[in-house]
Amino acid sequence: MREQIEKLRQEARRAADEANTPAELENARVHYFGKKGSFTLLLRGLGQMPPAERPQAGQRINEARAETELWFDRRAADLKIQERALKLKSETIDVTEPRGARKLGSLHPISIVLNDLVDLFVGMGYETVEGPEIEYDRYNFELLNQPKNHPARDAQDTFYIEDNIVLRSHTSPVQARVMLERKPPIRIISAGRVYRADEVDATHSPVFHQLEGLYIDKRVRMSDLKGTLDIFAKRLYGADAATRFRPSFFPFTEPSAEVDLTCPACKGGGCRVCKGTGWIELLGSGMVNPKVLEMCGIDSSVYSGFAFGIGLERVAMRRYGVSDMRWLFEGDARLLSQFR
Ligand code: PHE
Repeated sequence: MREQIEKLRQEARRAADEANTPAELENARVHYFGKKGSFTLLLRGLGQMPPAERPQAGQRINEARAETELWFDRRAADLKIQERALKLKSETIDVTEPRGARKLGSLHPISIVLNDLVDLFVGMGYETVEGPEIEYDRYNFELLNQPKNHPARDAQDTFYIEDNIVLRSHTSPVQARVMLERKPPIRIISAGRVYRADEVDATHSPVFHQLEGLYIDKRVRMSDLKGTLDIFAKRLYGADAATRFRPSFFPFTEPSAEVDLTCPACKGGGCRVCKGTGWIELLGSGMVNPKVLEMCGIDSSVYSGFAFGIGLERVAMRRYGVSDMRWLFEGDARLLSQFR
């Protein structure tokens, strides 16, 4: 009996040592300690022994069994550590391995155009200022000589938040704010979002961008405006670009002019883009209405000035040959990344 126990113990230990995974060890465990396991069968065999020998034999078997089970436990702990080490090794990340270059973003065409224009005007001595997009009626309209019943104030065009608060419909209210705050000479540009209740289509959006310019000093004349805008057109569209002034009307400028640009597509010859005229509309401008100067606290007998407002979407579309304004707002990286 003793030999039998000793043999079983050694065999079981070897089985534990030879198990290479927790699953293999578990199989061995069942084989030796399970319901039909070797140790269990040995204990059952006690019944066939002479009664006098049973207690001692039983004790030996139980001791051997307990000791072997400990052996199994230790082996299980070892295997667990081994398995963890293997796993760590296989999941190690090589932080020194070179990766593909990261994709860089690109400036939005509106930003490119804006940066160019800011550069140009700052070079001519203008300063950039900002104004709020949520604006008082007073600045958006009243101080710009658009009294309460003016047609441009029609609710169709302007988003009203309250009776006297609107989403600014142009950047011109910044003119009024600056004139009220500063003394001439004033030379500012101001760019930002403006809002109009327009349906979305290829050339309209309820939110778009304008750049406003304002220059006030003694003896500022229309020829200064014309010269400034000519430089502007050449900078944007090349040395052969020219401008033409067409009489127009804005309540806050007098006289007012819409400025056309020689069509960049046909250079003035006439094509589909310019509908055969050779010219396309570029911006609105004029000499600041003396009434506006006075309302904003500037002596119109001493000072005069010009102002202009330009839609940045249009500039970008023309410059880059984008035919649908919606593309500028959709944020499709495949399109936008082309304008570097
Ligand atoms: N604010 C005008 C518009 O949005 C443009 C403009 C600005 C005209 C300054 C004259 C002077 O249409």
